[in-house]
Amino acid sequence: MCGIVGYVGLKPVADILVDGLEQLEYRGYDSSGIAVKTDSKIAVYKAEGKLQNLKDVLRAHTSEITTATMGIGHIRWATHGAPTVVNAHPHTCNCGSLVIVHNGIIENYKELKEKMEKLGCVFKSQTDTETVAHLIAHKYAQTKDLTKAVSLAAQEIEGAYALCVMHNDLKNTLVVTKRNAPLVIGVGEGEYFVASDVPAIIKHTKKAIYLNDNQIATLTPDSLKLINSNGEELSPKVEVLPWEPVALSKMGYKHFMLKEIHEQPDVIRNILFGKLHTPAEPIILDEVKLTQKDLKDLNRIQIVACGTSLHAAMVGKYLIEQFCNIPVDVEASSEYIYRHTVTDEHTLVVGVSQSGETADTITAIKQSQARGSHILIITNRPDSAMARLADSLIPVNAGIEVSVAATKSYIAQLISFYLLALYLAEAKGSLDKSALESFKAEMMLLPQKVEQVLGTTDDIQRCARVYSSTKDFIYIARGINYPTALEGALKLKEISYINATGYPAGELKHGPIAMLDETMPVLSILMNGSVYEKLLSNSEEAKARNARMIALTNSKDKKVEELFDNIIRVPDVQELFSPVIAMIPLQLLAYYIAEFLGKDVDQPRNLAKSVTVE
Ligand code: AGP
Repeated sequence: MCGIVGYVGLKPVADILVDGLEQLEYRGYDSSGIAVKTDSKIAVYKAEGKLQNLKDVLRAHTSEITTATMGIGHIRWATHGAPTVVNAHPHTCNCGSLVIVHNGIIENYKELKEKMEKLGCVFKSQTDTETVAHLIAHKYAQTKDLTKAVSLAAQEIEGAYALCVMHNDLKNTLVVTKRNAPLVIGVGEGEYFVASDVPAIIKHTKKAIYLNDNQIATLTPDSLKLINSNGEELSPKVEVLPWEPVALSKMGYKHFMLKEIHEQPDVIRNILFGKLHTPAEPIILDEVKLTQKDLKDLNRIQIVACGTSLHAAMVGKYLIEQFCNIPVDVEASSEYIYRHTVTDEHTLVVGVSQSGETADTITAIKQSQARGSHILIITNRPDSAMARLADSLIPVNAGIEVSVAATKSYIAQLISFYLLALYLAEAKGSLDKSALESFKAEMMLLPQKVEQVLGTTDDIQRCARVYSSTKDFIYIARGINYPTALEGALKLKEISYINATGYPAGELKHGPIAMLDETMPVLSILMNGSVYEKLLSNSEEAKARNARMIALTNSKDKKVEELFDNIIRVPDVQELFSPVIAMIPLQLLAYYIAEFLGKDVDQPRNLAKSVTVE
């Protein structure tokens, strides 16, 4: 959940590193640092807080670093030790000759630390990473071979890591390795780039090598040597990256989040393209590899995910059960992996993840894979570790999502679940032709309906102003929109720090109703359909306790105007597709409240976009 970068070549390195870190800021932003190889030494610069602070530090040292053409950098999301300068990476050995940056967690760092202390190492930081700096330096002192030293150290490390290492003895050599953490090497002309993720290198090259676990690459400006953990040489596989650098610009929007919300109609069009042509034609999911026999034998589906992806999975459960009559369980990956789960070769296990990097979901997938289940991954990153584990894949094609709060990736995940549920229904023959065609026709109208919501945001902005001073917020819904209530509340919490909670409305009277009074806003996601009347009654119960009532609705019912203080209207839509339409105003409401409060919308406190620790 940190970002690492590295460069070895002929160009001045500092700007390349800082620019790379800027592209990785979504991975963490509590401190940062770089180390560069100058003529005489390795110079390390670090700063607490946002990357701008590091830039300020570097400005004062420009003359020292302009000639350096090799270096490493890091942006941190603290796990071990507070976000201070001392704990910021790069970390060095005792004499400062060896430096490393690390993303991941060294699980046996306490044992390693004791061992290294006995060997005379003095620790400066509270991080797990520093043990690795001392350990590799110790191995280097024995072997005088940096690649060998990294390989020997890796054998003693337990946990997850992507490491980039350099030594003052070696003017032009970086050594990188990884296990259960992402690392990509960009291949340039007479230069190599290293990064935790593609955005940090895409400006420089589209040619890349994804390192596999336990591989070690030794890079100089004009050579790359790749070995496995036994020291055997491997041929690197160079891939062409599908990304465009322009995707990372705000395109005139104040924040990435607002831009990403507005991209959603096109995100839906993109994902439907090639998969759904007309209502009469079958859904095409090329990368879903379930055979007719798999489908026949399938008796259960388990979906694992975290955060926003978990909410998309909850909608997915509803759809698959409704369309296909297959039992579906949804569980937070972090819970799933620490209990006895019952999965076998007749269970389809679906992992949902924007980043494809979330450690808990990766572990859950690996556990189910070991028990013989078919693994289907729904992800925005078809190049990710999770996608590489998949037997079947649905790439959601939402484009890079920079803002930490997931928006367009959520809508893309929902659309993936509609496609999957209809695909399974077609394969199993569980829906009749007219129902299938009607659902597909409705799905094809979604981009326009989302555009309609985005076209008139006055009501939402008004609500944001009225409710921005509240300390608490309750979202209620029923049925397929219960996950919408959870996701709406999560969005608000994440970026405005208002304590927001989503409830299934029927549960209100079993406890939460005690919190209602004239200060509490209750937002009711009141969409036409099977639970409309029930939810209206629950809203009346809340109104009777003097709560401040807000409706998000597509109903023309007169009762709505009588009952609610504020109304956010959305276009009419079939009930089963209402989670898409209802979510857009909730994303905007969270955005406008946070913006109104002057919060750091794209990089909220304590969060990171990819959670690569369990
Ligand atoms: C959503 O706004 C959050 N950033 C977070 O809940 C996120 O959805 C969660 O960490 C899961 O990430 P993933 O989809 O990349 O696996």
